[in-house]
Amino acid sequence: MQVCRTIGEIKEFANKARVAGKTVGLVPTMGYFHEGHLNLMREAKKNCDVVVVSLYVNPIQFGPKEDLGEYPRDFDRDCTMARSVGVDAIFAPGNDEMYPPGYNSFVEVAGITNKLCGLSRPGHFRGVTTVVAKLFNIVKPDRAFFGQKDAQQAMVIEKMVRDLNMGLEVVTLPIVREADGLAMSSRNVYLSAEQRQAAPVLYRSLCAFRDAVAGGERDVQKLCRGIEEMILSTPGAQIDYVEILSVPDLEPLNTMTGRCIAALAVRFGKTRLIDNIVVEV
Ligand code: PAJ
Repeated sequence: MQVCRTIGEIKEFANKARVAGKTVGLVPTMGYFHEGHLNLMREAKKNCDVVVVSLYVNPIQFGPKEDLGEYPRDFDRDCTMARSVGVDAIFAPGNDEMYPPGYNSFVEVAGITNKLCGLSRPGHFRGVTTVVAKLFNIVKPDRAFFGQKDAQQAMVIEKMVRDLNMGLEVVTLPIVREADGLAMSSRNVYLSAEQRQAAPVLYRSLCAFRDAVAGGERDVQKLCRGIEEMILSTPGAQIDYVEILSVPDLEPLNTMTGRCIAALAVRFGKTRLIDNIVVEV
């Protein structure tokens, strides 16, 4: 596995693969890998000849009061894990490589970024689409792999690729969960033992929502309240948002129709966790 620190190095690596007629898969990450990341890498490996993983904690997608400084990092462990699933190259640039002095260009998807995490994290998606567009231009992958864990992010990236004719395939893969249902996240390490024990309520509330829909409930307000009540009955859980919206436009709904997503963000102390489920009626 090659470790590239500069844009020049990873460009050369990806170019060589392309010239040799190989397909290139890209898995963008911020590191501190868990099974959710590894699953993206394995699927990329199954679907592409060569797999590049980018590992970059992108400062411009963090708000001024967010956890950029504390974001968990362990480069050596990440390299060992990536190597174990057959990743061909890691691209781990420094900030000066990605945003040199005078950097001043940004990519913005309007509309679907003005809800859910876009409301509670202003500027977040502008940071995500900018770094992902840069990664696409640098690596020029045939396919890029994202997780349904960050459902809105995956939708925003799909929209950017379509709107800007980026000419690559975006593959979105299911959420990987711990045995008790908690969605895997690099941020789970921030949770205290008590918070960790309480956190699976997020998935339980989404399963109860899914079951209520399967049982015939169609009233979005009622369904939303059901999720909220379950979460609020858990000590230490503070709701950031719980919303049920249409997929893929993320429009508000009164009645469950077609593909719908129930998405939530909940704080346990300083740690903000997100989760979601998509149902079709
Ligand atoms: P990061 O949080 O490291 O996530 C990298 C990829 O792993 C994302 O596509 C995310 O949705 C996916 N992922 C994380 N946890 C998952 C889980 N439990 N199940 C399935 N997939 C999971 O998302 C980012 O980094 C950044 O915003 C990035 C796209 C790299 C841009 O900086």
